Amino acid sequence: MSPLPLVVLVSGRGSNLRALQHAIERDECAARIAAVISDRPGCDALAFASECGLTTRVIRPKAFTNRAAWDLTLAKAIGEHEPGLVVLAGFMRIVGEAVLADCGARIVNVHPSLLPAFPGLGAPARALEAGVRITGCTIHLVDAGVDSGPILAQAALRVRDDEDAAALHRRIQALEHRLFPHVVDAVATGTLSLDGPRWADGVRSVLFE
Ligand code: GRF
Repeated sequence: MSPLPLVVLVSGRGSNLRALQHAIERDECAARIAAVISDRPGCDALAFASECGLTTRVIRPKAFTNRAAWDLTLAKAIGEHEPGLVVLAGFMRIVGEAVLADCGARIVNVHPSLLPAFPGLGAPARALEAGVRITGCTIHLVDAGVDSGPILAQAALRVRDDEDAAALHRRIQALEHRLFPHVVDAVATGTLSLDGPRWADGVRSVLFE
């Protein structure tokens, strides 16, 4: 079976990109990263991609007169790599209609909360403010809304009394780094269907810390 080609979209630190790449190198994820695309030149995620010899590209929204033009260019850039799956790994922008309709593959995102709770920015801090005792991360299909697409998998942890939002986010990210490669591998090997019914019997779609 040939590895599932991924296009990974990033904006920041790139810890989820690293986790994916490392899982691929350890043969724990039956995928290959065909390209890494970012909206932010100079981000750590791009530096890591270059170090690994991965194909990279920057598509800055500022270089376009409007959002639709940026979105169209992004859709074409993704499509050129003929991905089997598009992975948003800390991509801090909402993808638009052109990407959703025309990039040639389904799109998955990782979010640091147990959706549908706390969509959008600052999820760990808002979870703390709300006083929830359990939170975690969600891998979901991307649709036109904000963190609103169908849920594919979740991992949960207990909130500690003494932790701040940064510490909580770090612990959630440790779960993301396990769950995201697992979900991508499941798509690659066919144990997870993106068209539903989703998980083949007996496959865990949930992790507990
Ligand atoms: C992650 O916490 C993810 O849930 C959110 O953005 C963060 C990206 O982190 N969507 P990194 O760039 O992968 O380190």
